[in-house]
Amino acid sequence: MHASSSAIKDPIHATFYKNVAGDPTQEGVVLKASGKYPVCLQCHAPNAARDKTTKLDAMPAYSEGVNCIACHTLKKFNGLTGADGKMQLGLKSYEISDKIQAPTGMNRGLSKLSQGSDMFGGSATDDEQKPNPHLGEAVTVDGVEIPSLPMEGNPKQLKTNDACMGCHDKRNNPHGVALCQTGDEYSLSKTNVNCLSCHMPINNGVADHSMGGGHDQSMLKRSIVFDMEVTPNAGKLTANLLLKNQQPHSLPTGAPFRNIVVKVTAYNAAGETIWSNAADHPAKSDPQAYLAYGLTDSEGKPASPPEATALGEDTRLKPFEERTLSYEIPGEGVALVRGEVFYNLLWDGLVKKFKHLPADLTAPVLIAESEKDVTGS
Ligand code: HEC
Ligand code: HEC
Ligand code: HEC
Ligand code: HEC
Repeated sequence: MHASSSAIKDPIHATFYKNVAGDPTQEGVVLKASGKYPVCLQCHAPNAARDKTTKLDAMPAYSEGVNCIACHTLKKFNGLTGADGKMQLGLKSYEISDKIQAPTGMNRGLSKLSQGSDMFGGSATDDEQKPNPHLGEAVTVDGVEIPSLPMEGNPKQLKTNDACMGCHDKRNNPHGVALCQTGDEYSLSKTNVNCLSCHMPINNGVADHSMGGGHDQSMLKRSIVFDMEVTPNAGKLTANLLLKNQQPHSLPTGAPFRNIVVKVTAYNAAGETIWSNAADHPAKSDPQAYLAYGLTDSEGKPASPPEATALGEDTRLKPFEERTLSYEIPGEGVALVRGEVFYNLLWDGLVKKFKHLPADLTAPVLIAESEKDVTGS
């Protein structure tokens, strides 16, 4: 998603950006609410923010959003509170370097001292070696001149949460309401395990950069322990569903419209539904089965991210929380009980409103399931 984080590439972000700011291909776009340069770009298109432009199609580096250079020029995280006491977000929370920042850097100094100039790297065999632009001089590769890209070792920035927090800690809307707070959630958990251990695991010897989250079904499947016990109880069935959040942040975390829906269905021997926990959306008919971050107006009614003036109820699983949902199911004729956990990137209301979005972004994603055969009970 980093490679698709700009309003040119991410259809969900683009929908909101066009609504609160404007056309991502125009210069001089400002936030409609404040008349200021769109803060969104400090995180979603950091190279454009660096050049103070809003015309995101002017250069690949802008439309690419959080690209290699965006992360690998962050030198030091200064925290989210600026000297003036105001929040400094994304790029603004970091000291930026012109040198590429890397977990260890290009430690070729000693080999240069002992063997003379070492301008090569990238391949084990001599005839495949490509010139290395990170050693202090411009190089030519396949007829193209690559400028010198000096590199610096910076493990304190690259091997810790500092690499993520400027953009992922917390973000408030203009009314001071936190729209996301992965960082605050993480602090609550008191864990010592950093973001990279899960989001950048070692794969084939290097740190995997795919950084899965809510758009990645396999990552979502890993996020939860889900199990169901069904026991007969005086002609009825009691179903106990265990939900355990495996993360040191909430489940779901991130953008406020991420949500989880739990579905319990009882089937007869013919595979027909004879009971379910919620006939319509569980937010209405079975609130315990709806895990979401609430944003409200001053009267406590649900509100959109830019307009919310207060936090509503937060029914998501807290860091490492274990929760049991219980149901009494009429036992008559039940052959099978099936429990399902669905993840949604967007609130149901937004799914209905944003008809232009592709189905893979709006359809519920099954992240866990459990079935119990109860014939004869
Ligand atoms: C979201 C931030 C982010 C982006 C975007 C990003 N990186 Fe990284 N990269 C990191 C972090 C953090 C590490 C350090 C991981 C570690 O050592 O634990 C790293 C490590 C690396 C390493 C060293 C890998 C290793 O295991 O030794 C290379 C090489 C690298 N990045 C190249 C790239 C390239 C090329 C791109 C663009 C295609 C890119 N990075 C985009 C954050 C990022
Ligand atoms: C310069 C800002 C920036 C930095 C630094 C950054 N991210 Fe992100 N990250 C973003 C943005 C913006 C998105 C959202 C892209 C979108 O959905 O439009 C994102 C998306 C993600 C997602 C995917 C969310 C989804 O919807 O699927 C994960 C996971 C993630 N980042 C983890 C990390 C980790 C771990 C680090 C530190 C190694 C990191 N990020 C560093 C800005 C950043
Ligand atoms: C124990 C492993 C683990 C650790 C540690 C961890 N995460 Fe996650 N993270 C996950 C899993 C699994 C998901 C998918 C489920 C979810 O969205 O909560 C996820 C989801 C996310 C998302 C996706 C949100 C979205 O809107 O799609 C972001 C962003 C994120 N994590 C950031 C972080 C940051 C920042 C840290 C460090 C402060 C961190 N994570 C630490 C496992 C982890
Ligand atoms: C502090 C950094 C930051 C700022 C500022 C920021 N965002 Fe984000 N935004 C993120 C990150 C990180 C994610 C993805 C992970 C998550 O869900 O937390 C994200 C995700 C989103 C998503 C969900 C995208 C998807 O693919 O589902 C939308 C929509 C969004 N942002 C809109 C905006 C808008 C509009 C603005 C400006 C008014 C803005 N953001 C400002 C960091 C930021």
